[in-house]
Amino acid sequence: MDQNLFNEICLKQLTLSGVNEDETVAVLTRGEERAEYAAAFMWAAQKLGAATFHLRLPPPASASGAWAVGDSGLGANPRAVEALKSVDMLVDCTFLLFSPEQFAIQAAGTRILTAVEPAPLLARLMPTKELRERVEVGAELLAKARSMRITSPHGTDVTYRLGVYPTMSEYGYTDQPGRWDHWPAAFVFTGGADDGVDGKIVLAPGDVLLPFNTYVQTPVEIIVEAGFIRDIRGTAGTTGLDADLLTSYIESFDDPRGYGMSHVGWGLDERAHWHGLTRFSGGMGMELRSFYGNVMFSIGPNNELGGPNDTACHFDIPMRGCSLYLDDELIVDAGELTVPEMRPTGGR
Ligand SMILES: [Fe+2]
Repeated sequence: MDQNLFNEICLKQLTLSGVNEDETVAVLTRGEERAEYAAAFMWAAQKLGAATFHLRLPPPASASGAWAVGDSGLGANPRAVEALKSVDMLVDCTFLLFSPEQFAIQAAGTRILTAVEPAPLLARLMPTKELRERVEVGAELLAKARSMRITSPHGTDVTYRLGVYPTMSEYGYTDQPGRWDHWPAAFVFTGGADDGVDGKIVLAPGDVLLPFNTYVQTPVEIIVEAGFIRDIRGTAGTTGLDADLLTSYIESFDDPRGYGMSHVGWGLDERAHWHGLTRFSGGMGMELRSFYGNVMFSIGPNNELGGPNDTACHFDIPMRGCSLYLDDELIVDAGELTVPEMRPTGGR
């Protein structure tokens, strides 16, 4: 993307995020990555009268090839962490999420926006106040619920016991002290009690495996008991290829907590395309987490929600055509949101 255009979308972003002349905005990058992001965010921060600086970390010492969440590169760098704790807003172009350093920076009152997706996607899924309001309606409903049940025509029937962990919303910008968000995003989630997820999830062709950034081709049956996956297999009469890939990847972390059940919720952005991976395979799949009416469940860590599981093995799996009930009330009906205040204005 042209740098001037990039500057302009970052100006819209920081305006939504409430940046003003009394604030300092830091931008974090790593190695050679996303220098143009840092330039655009600093330009935008200055345009709004804020002070700004760019903190650039060295590249990771070794790249394992796996998406090992939680290793921020800041662990051995306490003075860098202190610098980031001291600012009002941090734009994270490295993906700090799940790291203890991110939580420490937030706890100091710094709000954090992650921005790592390709610039054209940032532009197309520019957050809006209207979308934020719809996401917050969803978050309110989710926060009140004590149970969630997800079903699908393919045989999914799984229940999450709720009420232990907080509900979180992502709408793509952040204007509150200590709050984290990710651009672009439009979804809500919480986590089940550590031993409170039971049932069967059947992944159907077209459901999405992140971080593989692939679409499921062969159905996968996942059996969950007391918050942990006990079995992953292909359904009768199929090759079970995706089941094998999923299992092989989780096993490679050599950590049984990689089979834990992580966050769960649904997406609200009608502008996000289910077919998005065909256009932006280089990103981390935020479009797929956000597409309207997807029900996304996740495997692995729940430390983001305050839970004890901090495994580095993490999957997000947005699914199409599911129904989701909160305390027996139908909230997502076969991929369509039932609550008018969560639907786009003007209908769809
Ligand atoms: Fe996730």
